[in-house]
Amino acid sequence: MCGIIGYVGHQQVQNLLLDGLHRLEYRGYDSAGIAVLEGGQISLTKKAGRVQELGHAVAEAPLQGHIGIGHTRWATHGEVNDTNSHPHFGGDGEICLVHNGVIENYSTLRKKLRERGFEFVTTTDSEVVAHLLAYEYRQGLEQGGRVGSQQLCVDALQATLIQLKGTYGLAVLYRDCPDTMYVARVGSPLVIGIGDHENFVASDASPLAVHTEEVVYLSDNEIAILTPDDVQIIHRDSGAVDLKIQVLDQSAGDSELGDFPHYMLKEIYEQPQSIENAMRGRFDEDEATAVFGGLNMTAKELRKVDRIVLTACGTSWHAGLVGEYLLEEFARIPTEVEYASELRYRNPPMSENTMIFSITQSGETADTLAAMRECKRKGHPTLAICNVVGSTIAREADGGIYLHAGPEIGVASTKAFTSQVTVLTLLSLFFGRMRHLSYPAGKRIIRHLRDIPAQVEETLKCHEMVKYVCEKYARYNNFLYLGRLYNFPVALEGALKLKEISYIHAEGYPAAEMKHGPIALVDEVTPSVFVVPKCGIYPKVISNLEEVKARKGPVIAIACKGDEKIAELADDVIYVPDVEEYLQPLVTSIPLQLLSYHIALHRGCNVDRPRNLAKSVTVE
Ligand code: G6P
Repeated sequence: MCGIIGYVGHQQVQNLLLDGLHRLEYRGYDSAGIAVLEGGQISLTKKAGRVQELGHAVAEAPLQGHIGIGHTRWATHGEVNDTNSHPHFGGDGEICLVHNGVIENYSTLRKKLRERGFEFVTTTDSEVVAHLLAYEYRQGLEQGGRVGSQQLCVDALQATLIQLKGTYGLAVLYRDCPDTMYVARVGSPLVIGIGDHENFVASDASPLAVHTEEVVYLSDNEIAILTPDDVQIIHRDSGAVDLKIQVLDQSAGDSELGDFPHYMLKEIYEQPQSIENAMRGRFDEDEATAVFGGLNMTAKELRKVDRIVLTACGTSWHAGLVGEYLLEEFARIPTEVEYASELRYRNPPMSENTMIFSITQSGETADTLAAMRECKRKGHPTLAICNVVGSTIAREADGGIYLHAGPEIGVASTKAFTSQVTVLTLLSLFFGRMRHLSYPAGKRIIRHLRDIPAQVEETLKCHEMVKYVCEKYARYNNFLYLGRLYNFPVALEGALKLKEISYIHAEGYPAAEMKHGPIALVDEVTPSVFVVPKCGIYPKVISNLEEVKARKGPVIAIACKGDEKIAELADDVIYVPDVEEYLQPLVTSIPLQLLSYHIALHRGCNVDRPRNLAKSVTVE
C-alpha cells in the first residue's frame, strides 16, 4: 500500500526514482510523484494516474539532482488527484516528504497547525506530517539550532514522530540539507540499500535489487540518516543501532516480465517451479516426514501443541482453509482459520498450547501483523508462513517457513497460493508424523508431493481450453463457484480471482450449501463453475451440479482427465490431472486463475493492476 523510494549519491536521480516507482507500482497506483533537491531548491512533479503518466510529465520538464524521493500512492485520506499525490511540502517548502501509512490523529494536528498559521493545500493526512516537521524544525532554529545541522534535523523529526498516532514509513528531504535524507518507520516497511558512494531506501527490496545486494531492514521506531557515504540508524528509545546488513536473496531479473504479457500470467506459469521450491530440502525420506529449519521450537514443545490457529487475509486466508482441512486430517490437531482483521480485535479463548501461524505472501499485511502481535502478547508461539524474506512479519515471528516463490508482482495472488498450500501440506505431514501418522502413510504423502510439480505443468496444458471457455462466458455478469471439501476453498479463491481482476460479481460456496440461498440466483445468464474432480463424495457434487442444470444454469466443470460422464452434464469441461484428493487444490486452482485472467483480458481490464486494490495492504 503506497510505495516509497529514495536515493542519495552520485547518480542523476530522476530516472532512478522512476524506475524504482515502476517496480513498486504494484503497491498502489492511484498517483505518483518525485521530488529532487538541488542547489538549495526542492523541485517536485506529481500526477494522478500511473507512474507512466509521471514519466511523461518529467520527460517534458526533467528534474536535475543527486538526492530525491518518490512515491506511488494507494489513496487512503483525500481523493485521487494531482494535489493529493505525494511528495508533500511542509512549511514554505523547507520540508518535502513521502509517506506510506495512516496518521489517525491528523485532524487534531491539522487544526493546531492551522492555528499556528500553516496553510494546507491537500486533503491528505500526510501533509500534516510535513507541516508539523517544518514547525518543529523552525522551533529548533529559534532555540539556537544550526541551519541544516544533523542534530537539528533529527531532533525535529523525533519531536514530530512522537506526536503522530498511526503508521508511517517516511522519507524526508530538508531544503537546508543538500546531501542527507532522513527516513523513519512505524508499521510501514522500509528497506535501506547500501551502495558504493550511494544509498537507497524503498518500501521493499524490489527496486533495490538492480543497484545493490546489501540491505538493512528498518524496524519500528527507528530513524535512518542517509548520506552518499554513510548510513546511521537511531532507535527512539535506545539510541544508535548497529547496522545489520543482509544479503538480498533476489536478483533484479526475478522481477522482470520476460516474454509474458502480464505478471499474472508469468506467475501462473511459474507454479511448477515455485511449488518445487517450496518443497526443496524439506523432505526427510528416512523418517518419512518433512523438515523445517526455522520453526525455532523443540520437538517437545511442538508435541504439546493442542490447537492451531491460522490467520491471514485474502488469498492467504483461502490457503489457510485448505490448511485447516489438511492439518485436521493428517495431524489430527484441531485447527481454525481466522480472518486477521477479526482476530486482532477478538478475544477468543485459546489454550496455552495454541500455536499461531500467520500466512502472508508479503509479510506486511497490517491486519495479519496486528493479529500476530496480539497473539504474541498473550504468550502463544507465533510463526509465519511467508514469501518475502526480511518482511516485518517474517522478522517479528518466533519462527517460520519461507515459501521461496520469488517475487509475486501481479496484484492477484497466484503462485503464492499454491506455495502456501504446499507448505501447509508439508506442515501437516510434519505434525502428523509426530503424532498419529504411520511411516508408510508419510512415505505415500512424500511420493505424491514429489509428483506434483510435473502434474501442475501438465495442468497448464488446459490453457487453450480455458481461452475457449472465456470467449463464451466473458460477457456474463454473475458467477457462482462451487466445490466441496478440499475444493471448497478453491471455489472461494476462484470467485475472489474473478472479482479482483474482472470486476464481475462472483460467489464461492460449498456446493451443497448452495441450496440454502445462492440457488435462487441461478438462471440462464448465471454460470456456475463446478470444481468437481474425482473424490469420495463425487456423486454428491454431481447431484448439486444437476440441481443447477435443472434450473437452466450454464455449468463449467473443472474435472479429472478421463471423466467422460461429466461432459454429458456440464456445458463445458476443463480437465486437470487426477491427483490425490488432498492435493487437488494445487491443480484445480490453476484453471480458475487462467479463467479470471482471460475474462479480465476480454473485458479490457488491467490484469496486473486492478482498480482499487493493492498488493501489499499496509493499512488497516
Ligand atoms: C491483498 C492482495 C491479495 C492478498 C491479500 C493478503 O488483498 O491483493 O492478493 O491475498 O492482500 O496479502 P498477504 O501478502 O498477507 O498474503
